[in-house]
Amino acid sequence: MTTMTGQPTMTTPSFPKGFLWGGAIAANQAEGAWNEGGKGLSLSDLTRGGLLHDKMDPAVDPGAYYPSHEAIDFYHRYPEDVALFAEMGFKCLRTSIAWSRIFPNGDETEPNEAGLAFYDGLFDALLAKGIEPVVTLSHYETPLHLIRTYGGWADRRLIGFFERYARTVFARYAGKVRYWIGFNEINMAPVIPLAAAALELDDDLSPADRQSRLFQAAHHQFVASALAKKACRDLVPGGQMGCMLQLGGIYPATCKPEDVFAAMQVRRRSLFYSDVLLRGEYPNFIWRMLEEAGARIDIANDDLEVLRAYPADYLSFSYYFTTTFADGMPVLGNTGGIDGKPNPYLEASAWGWPIDPKGLRYVCNEVWDRYRKPLFVVENGLGAVDEVGPDGSIEDDARIAYLDAHLQQLAEAIADGCGVIGYTWWGPIDIVSAGTGEMKKRYGFIHVDKDNDGKGTLQRRRKKSFHHYRRIIASNGASILET
Ligand code: BG6
Repeated sequence: MTTMTGQPTMTTPSFPKGFLWGGAIAANQAEGAWNEGGKGLSLSDLTRGGLLHDKMDPAVDPGAYYPSHEAIDFYHRYPEDVALFAEMGFKCLRTSIAWSRIFPNGDETEPNEAGLAFYDGLFDALLAKGIEPVVTLSHYETPLHLIRTYGGWADRRLIGFFERYARTVFARYAGKVRYWIGFNEINMAPVIPLAAAALELDDDLSPADRQSRLFQAAHHQFVASALAKKACRDLVPGGQMGCMLQLGGIYPATCKPEDVFAAMQVRRRSLFYSDVLLRGEYPNFIWRMLEEAGARIDIANDDLEVLRAYPADYLSFSYYFTTTFADGMPVLGNTGGIDGKPNPYLEASAWGWPIDPKGLRYVCNEVWDRYRKPLFVVENGLGAVDEVGPDGSIEDDARIAYLDAHLQQLAEAIADGCGVIGYTWWGPIDIVSAGTGEMKKRYGFIHVDKDNDGKGTLQRRRKKSFHHYRRIIASNGASILET
């Protein structure tokens, strides 16, 4: 079928040719090797129990266990892991560059060659297997020095440091990486400010000062994103620069008009980020929100022009769950999204995350209608406890059911007309949980023998879902649409 403009549409659920199937990880949750190859400290190297705690140790305590220091040792073991991804048929792997491997403190003028060489090796290994790297520049792993010396993204000088970093890696990997992403879940700063905006906010800050710092940091990240888009255009032939948001869905808790409006407002507080990054301008509603919060931000002369000139090319997002929101509720959340009220119609995971496949179709349509820019689902997955059977097998049927149900709804969204270019399952290999620092919260199709205390052989093992995902990719999704 074609539209009136002659564009082809797919009105039956299916996945387009060339769809980017794969998985997503982040450097600090997988690589380990926290002090090898000249790497500097990042914020995740000083957090023990995950980022929900939002507090770092003052310095590394030699007697304490830090999950990121070894993680799953992807730094040394990636050839084996890449081979397993290739066996599943991955078309792409989303990972991040640890900024502090390239610029150990973040503010140097010359990069660290050993860090650059590490990613050359990784990207070459992926490309040799026909797997396209999709690379996030900043995934909850800002160099520590930028936080302790400058105060994180509330300081304008970080824009220049980030631009230098982006230009360095764009120039180095121009022939290897086409898909780039700026800040992971940029809109999560209000609920996890340390992770998303490198802000250590004092508990005794006044609400207005807290909001000022959050909005100021967001503004600096917007300008940095726009300058990175410009750099990508200048340096990467065929490069695509995406923005990345956490887009768990928000439903009104009831049909009471106050609840409906409150749900819209909390959603806008998130979509404000993608509005600026994709449309290149601040939405009108944000000025009133700023005023009501008593927040003040500095915007330099040319900033708005820069934002307008260099919007992102695509919207990538994570989707784990939906929540319901009622008037007057505080906006709280975690790595999976905003924590509102429980939805009585949904089951939840062992970590209390509601399971709502249809919400993925809802969100795709919501943002496609708003932006009309390519969508890339770069995180979706189920964190669960896995039992290893006596013969070493792992029957992770709940993970398979979650995967199938979400992909079926994604295919529906595509049939609705949404321009979705790819899907990367979060944590295709077990990695450290960002929120809690646990290994027990497993997302992988590949099991890693390691527990919450850091004990285990690190041996990799295929779970039942490994074979299932391989069949899905081999059939371009048809295997789960026929059932
Ligand atoms: C996303 C993050 O918020 O959620 C990932 O981008 C994170 O880094 C993922 O791992 C799942 O959260 P958690 O806390 O279960 O690891």
